Amino acid sequence: MKKYKKRLQHISPEILKRIAEVVESQLGLDFRDKTDDLENRLRSAFKGLSDEEFEKRLERLLKQGIDSSPELINHLTIPETYFLRNGRLFDRLEFVILPEIISRKLNGNRRINIWSAGCSTGEEPYSVSVLMNRLLADQSDWQITILATDVNETKLKKARDAVYTDWSFRNTPLTFKDRYFDVIDLKRYRLKPEIKKRVTFLKHNLKKDPFPPDHKFNPIDLIICRNVLMYLSGSAVISILHKFYDLLENDGYFITGAGEFPALKFDKFKPQIIDGIIVYRKNKITGKITAGKTLTTKKVALTKFTQKPVLKKLTEPDQKIISFKPQPAFPPEREPVSQKTDDELTIIKNLANNGQLEEARELCQRYVERNNLNSRGYYLLGNIFLELGDLAKAEENFQKAVFLDPNFIMGHFALANVYSMKEIPKESKRYYQNVLNLLKKSDADAIIPESDGLSVFQFSEMVKKIITANKLAS
Ligand SMILES: C[S@@+](CC[C@H](N)C(=O)[O-])C[C@H]1O[C@@H](n2cnc3c(N)ncnc32)[C@H](O)[C@@H]1O
Repeated sequence: MKKYKKRLQHISPEILKRIAEVVESQLGLDFRDKTDDLENRLRSAFKGLSDEEFEKRLERLLKQGIDSSPELINHLTIPETYFLRNGRLFDRLEFVILPEIISRKLNGNRRINIWSAGCSTGEEPYSVSVLMNRLLADQSDWQITILATDVNETKLKKARDAVYTDWSFRNTPLTFKDRYFDVIDLKRYRLKPEIKKRVTFLKHNLKKDPFPPDHKFNPIDLIICRNVLMYLSGSAVISILHKFYDLLENDGYFITGAGEFPALKFDKFKPQIIDGIIVYRKNKITGKITAGKTLTTKKVALTKFTQKPVLKKLTEPDQKIISFKPQPAFPPEREPVSQKTDDELTIIKNLANNGQLEEARELCQRYVERNNLNSRGYYLLGNIFLELGDLAKAEENFQKAVFLDPNFIMGHFALANVYSMKEIPKESKRYYQNVLNLLKKSDADAIIPESDGLSVFQFSEMVKKIITANKLAS
């Protein structure tokens, strides 16, 4: 008992280590290198308890495992989600992936099973259900089920209620809310029953519960597990991917968040790029494959299917497929993949360049948590915050980048710009000067890292011009 006594100062490192191990082995969530974070979460989960009760809770957790502490699960998991999160992906789902699945099933049993694993409060599976409604006007001879699971009971309850506030529509076209929700009052909206009825919510722990969560939903045509794997330990992820793979239909799709896959050593899935979005297929890829490219360090065939630009958006009126005509899911032209996609930061940068700033921010924050000595990570995060208009966070991350690498030219340059925006000319000048001093030490022809190809000479000229212009302005 004594070992817990100091909890108001700190939970002892050995206890925290043991709890982190329990959390990893039973939930897959990896706090083993983040015991300070774990301690804060334990304190918030068990707040209001006396010292003695708190000690007992920790003991119970260690003896009986995570299921003895549902309130802790709520504090350990990150529930962030919203409708149509990553619009481009939902666009591809509506115009490529779901039509491809439908066309394959048209002459068969007309049964489609979709699984949203780690669904949190339900915005993701309900978004898919909306797409199904838009694609198939008459579903009477179809059996379409969307299974949605999560380990967090509190969030599942909210998902089953299907009542949302504006926060869940933060990146969603207005018409989506207008069309598929009934207004309850000024702040709350209830999902329409015809969208809700297709989704079944079940509690399921990806780390330790059996797969599939319910045999009724077997086999599965599409598994969506986004923004979940990135919080789990590598070994948990590999074991989950194996089980997903086994459950999928032969042509089935697996979709995860951008950047969640590349670091993993799992090459059974065949990655495909559909207009900039990476999805994974089991075994068969419809159509002829002409291009192969390495996605990770392993040899994995990566096929890019070029698509015509998708014009129809959810802002347009429903264009239901009354009599669905089977059509080739992908046009015949195929292109080799030109860009190198095996770098996690490159993927995050591409996301940011695509305007998916919130996704990029989240991934980049996770990246720097895992790679807290990588100056490039902080530099990218600083740029994302800059795009999001948060100068303070941008400054903080650029500062970390130059602290880790004092010779990071673009880091000093970014700080000079931030201080110029913050109208602190003295600091701005100091950082521009740092840039010039660093440039003097480099070859004129050398390309500056992270500068998108600028040479030392070109960049010095540019910085000198900025300094002169600033002098003239002051
Ligand atoms: C950030 S949310 C993702 C929600 C949604 N997929 C999205 O991308 O918008 C992550 C979810 O994963 C769930 N989760 C974490 N560990 C899990 C596990 N071992 N089994 C099932 N769900 C888990 C959390 O409870 C949380 O609701």
